[in-house]
Amino acid sequence: MKNKLTRRNFIRTSSMVGVGMAIGLPYIACGTNLQTKKAAILGGPKAFTGDWSKWPLIGQIEQDELLTVLNSGGWCRLGNKTAPKFENEFQKYTGAKKALAVSSGTSALYTMLGALCIGPGDEVIIPPYTFIATYNVIVLNYALPVFVDVDIESFQIDADEIESAISNNTKVIMPVHIGGSPFDVDRVLKVSEKHNIPVIEDACQAHMAEWKGKCVGNWGLGGAFSFQESKNLSSGEGGAVITNDDTFYQNCYGFHHQGQGADVASLVPGSGIRGSNLRITEFQAAILLAQMTRLTEQVKRRWENAQYLTEMLIQIPGIKPAKLYDGVTKSAYHLYMFRYDKRMFSEMSRSQFMNALDAEGIPCSSGYTSMTREKYITDLAQNKYYLNIYGEKRIKEWVESLSCPQNDRLCDEEALWFSQNMLLGTKTDMEQIAEAIKKIATYSSEISRI
Ligand SMILES: Cc1ncc(COP(=O)(O)O)c(C=O)c1O
Repeated sequence: MKNKLTRRNFIRTSSMVGVGMAIGLPYIACGTNLQTKKAAILGGPKAFTGDWSKWPLIGQIEQDELLTVLNSGGWCRLGNKTAPKFENEFQKYTGAKKALAVSSGTSALYTMLGALCIGPGDEVIIPPYTFIATYNVIVLNYALPVFVDVDIESFQIDADEIESAISNNTKVIMPVHIGGSPFDVDRVLKVSEKHNIPVIEDACQAHMAEWKGKCVGNWGLGGAFSFQESKNLSSGEGGAVITNDDTFYQNCYGFHHQGQGADVASLVPGSGIRGSNLRITEFQAAILLAQMTRLTEQVKRRWENAQYLTEMLIQIPGIKPAKLYDGVTKSAYHLYMFRYDKRMFSEMSRSQFMNALDAEGIPCSSGYTSMTREKYITDLAQNKYYLNIYGEKRIKEWVESLSCPQNDRLCDEEALWFSQNMLLGTKTDMEQIAEAIKKIATYSSEISRI
């Protein structure tokens, strides 16, 4: 993807602005003279005066856990204890019956599709507003990714559009809890139950997010999490599958471990069809165990700060925080996603707005480019295997179905993100973000002429 600032780089950039938690100066309340201060891009003072939290955060506990594994000489999960210990903890945190740690979020999704034996001729439904991995794991199996446009208000898959994308070949519905906020679980499950098609939740950005009080990843047949460096729970690379279905767990275990079972080193019936090595290392598991000691506090802090920020941002004309559906009891806020309407900012382009925010000390990303228009994806229509498997007629229909106007609007014009580490700061930081946007609105006609 051609993002100027990818999500991963964005988190790296925004977390390198300073070290440690934001200190924050005393808040200058709305109605005082900050509103009249010039926008920083026009020579005024910066609105943000603290330091953004760096990411990832580490302490003595990471060093201790890592050294224990290093010195033990047991570095692979087979026959060792750290990965199972992490899986146990992750089960407790998510409330799932089973957790399987794997080498990445991509591996978690790939494992579940492998355990379901998804292959050539099968179709899998996904939203276009996601990281490319959601698409890649389908195409790696020579299955057809079928896109369902987004609900622009929430940035999530439009659950009302899923049914019309279902064909006789649809084998999985794989929506994404994008930004760490749950998609409309109830409406997705209703379609899934009506058509008897399993849901695999891409929860790679949604650690500890909840729908109606239960963690995401538990609602479908299985859920995938990523522990890549930028994620809210991180081990550099890593991932996990969670499920409440014992047979599915066994099949996932087999697929990720060359077709062999968790308890015995022999091929598992039913999952021996295909397999790979997608195992996590003991080092990754050690870091995850250490990182988890901070998870609950961080989840709470992001959620509270994001809610406070939303209260302030909804009052600014032209700024629309991504809607949370009624069933959402917690968002992980991996990304704080909002929409920008340039008409309320003297037609200032989104990139001018981002530059103005950057001058205030507030990094911001325009997020994903429009996946369904990427050559990487449209070229699938010329892939000889795809033409053989699906035939020209289906592939022609598929190309037509790539039109996702709501997603294009988000990607081209409206979407903006703050990264999760910015939500680890203080309430003052949130107030300063809101004040910065208000300053930019006040001076928008001047800024748009720069
Ligand atoms: C929505 C989504 N799905 C899948 C992935 C893949 O995870 P990983 O990078 O750990 O392979 C990511 C990671 O960025 C993601 O954001």
